[in-house]
Amino acid sequence: MRISLKSQLILSFSIVIVIGFVLSGIVGIRLIGDTVIKNAQNKVRLDLNSAREVYREECDYIKNITRFTAIRFFMKDAILENDRERLKLELRKIREKESLDILTLTDENGVVLVRARNPEIFGDSLDEDIIDSVLSQKQVLVATEIVRRDNLAKEGKDLVEQARIEIIPTPKARDRAETVETSGMVIKAAAPVFDYDNNMIGVLIGGRLLNRDYEIVDKVKDIVYRGEEYKGKDIGTTTIFQDDLRISTNVRRTDGERAIGTRVSEEVYNRVVGEGIPWVGRAFVVNEWYRTAYEPIKNINGDIIGMLYVGMLEAPYIDMRNRVVFIFLGITLLNVILLSIIANIVANRITRPIKDLVTATDKVAAGDLSQRIHIESKNEIGQLADSFNQMTAELEKTTENYLELTRNLEEKVREQALELCAAQDQLIQSEKLSSLGKLAAGIAHEINNPLTSILINSHLISEKLQGDEKFRENLELIIDETSRCSKIVEGLLEFSRQTPPEKRLADINDIIEKTLLLFESQIIIHNVEVEKKLDARIPKIMVDIGKIEQVFTNIVLNALEAMPEKGRLTVESRISTDKKSVEIEISDTGCGIPKEALGKIFDPFFSTKGTKGTGLGLSISYGIVEQHGGTIEVKSEVGKGSTFIVLLPIE
Ligand SMILES: Nc1ncnc2c1ncn2[C@@H]1O[C@H](COP(=O)(O)OP(=O)(O)OP(=O)(O)O)[C@@H](O)[C@H]1O
Ligand SMILES: [Mg+2]
Repeated sequence: MRISLKSQLILSFSIVIVIGFVLSGIVGIRLIGDTVIKNAQNKVRLDLNSAREVYREECDYIKNITRFTAIRFFMKDAILENDRERLKLELRKIREKESLDILTLTDENGVVLVRARNPEIFGDSLDEDIIDSVLSQKQVLVATEIVRRDNLAKEGKDLVEQARIEIIPTPKARDRAETVETSGMVIKAAAPVFDYDNNMIGVLIGGRLLNRDYEIVDKVKDIVYRGEEYKGKDIGTTTIFQDDLRISTNVRRTDGERAIGTRVSEEVYNRVVGEGIPWVGRAFVVNEWYRTAYEPIKNINGDIIGMLYVGMLEAPYIDMRNRVVFIFLGITLLNVILLSIIANIVANRITRPIKDLVTATDKVAAGDLSQRIHIESKNEIGQLADSFNQMTAELEKTTENYLELTRNLEEKVREQALELCAAQDQLIQSEKLSSLGKLAAGIAHEINNPLTSILINSHLISEKLQGDEKFRENLELIIDETSRCSKIVEGLLEFSRQTPPEKRLADINDIIEKTLLLFESQIIIHNVEVEKKLDARIPKIMVDIGKIEQVFTNIVLNALEAMPEKGRLTVESRISTDKKSVEIEISDTGCGIPKEALGKIFDPFFSTKGTKGTGLGLSISYGIVEQHGGTIEVKSEVGKGSTFIVLLPIE
């Protein structure tokens, strides 16, 4: 599978982002959860201290009432005078005023003198640890004690009722056989009563039954939690347990009633009551999860008889944690989106130049060497682009050089081919001329003598036939035609004459001047303008003057014949560009030579002039120039004129 570089980059970025997101999410959520819950737990721990203070205050209050009552004079006096009526009256007033559940006076042996609440019953011995302690220590003591039903009954029938609590089956609570709790939990203070000589004459016992007494728990709720609620439920709750049983609480059941009679979970019970270790942690209380703290309540002997509990609803903290987590996740998600956008931009920035490079490389591969890449950055990709540009430039230059080389080669080959063709043409031409020359020489030799005798005899006959005009005319015709034949034969002889040229050092310009002089009258008749551009610097060269004169004569004669009415004849001489020859150029503005005739004009007997021309002029000239090691060329355009260029080597 082919994955683009950009996708790979984005994928890598995404993996890093997602891993970061997940890790920070897990750690963040853990941290937030832990912090929030730990805070809640710490608060509960502090709240338990507050609850303990409130509980102790209550104890101190009862202790102080008892103590201050015990030292009052009427107590001493009434005991010393054995005035039970007065004691009954005073103690009842104090009990009611201070709303104590129990206010009982015993003698120095623990035998009940007066029960403020239930004066009918007295004279029994109060067999209680706290009284023993006071009797022995002779000082005020306060403690929480469990009071059995029968002892409660002695203090007052209504206290039995108040203490009686039906045990409600509670999930997670320990197994318990009984269904009713009949004993009560009482904060009890005991103070010694002394006579004026400081002898102990009695013990005053004040107490408050905690069962169904909500003063302490509601005070804690008001002080610590200020009655705050969350979704209609109290945030903070406090409970006093007698053993594992809720006897005073503001934890509510689902029906809104105080959860009196429900019990603590076995786990908490075993820890706090069983082992005497405070419990701090999460606990399911009646029907909700709470952050809780429990600590044992001990009696005067240090035995654990119950527990003090505070708890905070967990829901507000959980909701708060969820809110914080939600916000945290939101911010993280936002970060992820932001990072993704940045990753995309970065990936684009990185891959775009590479894409450009790939496209450019493809184009170069397809043959477009003009490709260049413009990348601003100076990083590795920028360097790569520079190298690429350098490479393509180099490649382009090299290719151009190769093309140039190829073009030159082709040019050379063409030139060579042309030269070869020209050489071949020349060879054919000279071959043609030489074989024709031999033939012509033989024929001319044979024909010349008879022609001469025909001409001589015809002249003789013509002179003798004076008077007979018609006959004379025919004879003149014979003479003319024979003269013509004789001219052809002359030409043939001239053409075939293979005599080597007699070369002498000569000035070509002089030869040209001399030739033109010959044509002076004809030039005037033909109404021709002559232009001479003779270069005086051309060197003298070795030529057969007569023969070269003949060449120029032939060319100039043809030119004049091509311009019967009027025209311009231009004769130029110069040194050839390669400086190896003298170049003579003769041009006219005459009728010009058609293309198909151009290849034939140097052939012997090729003429377009009918009986007026022999067609030998140019072929003779060709032979002469060739004898001098030179060349003769023609350029012509029909209607515009012709140019003959003769090159003669400077030896
Ligand atoms: N300057 C020119 N302008 C036009 N045609 C030319 C010119 N020179 C030569 N020719 C053509 O080349 C032919 C051959 O020329 P060439 O001189 O060999 O023979 P000729 O002129 O026909 O006869 P001769 O020269 O024997 O009298 C001519 O017939 C003519 O058609
Ligand atoms: Mg001619």
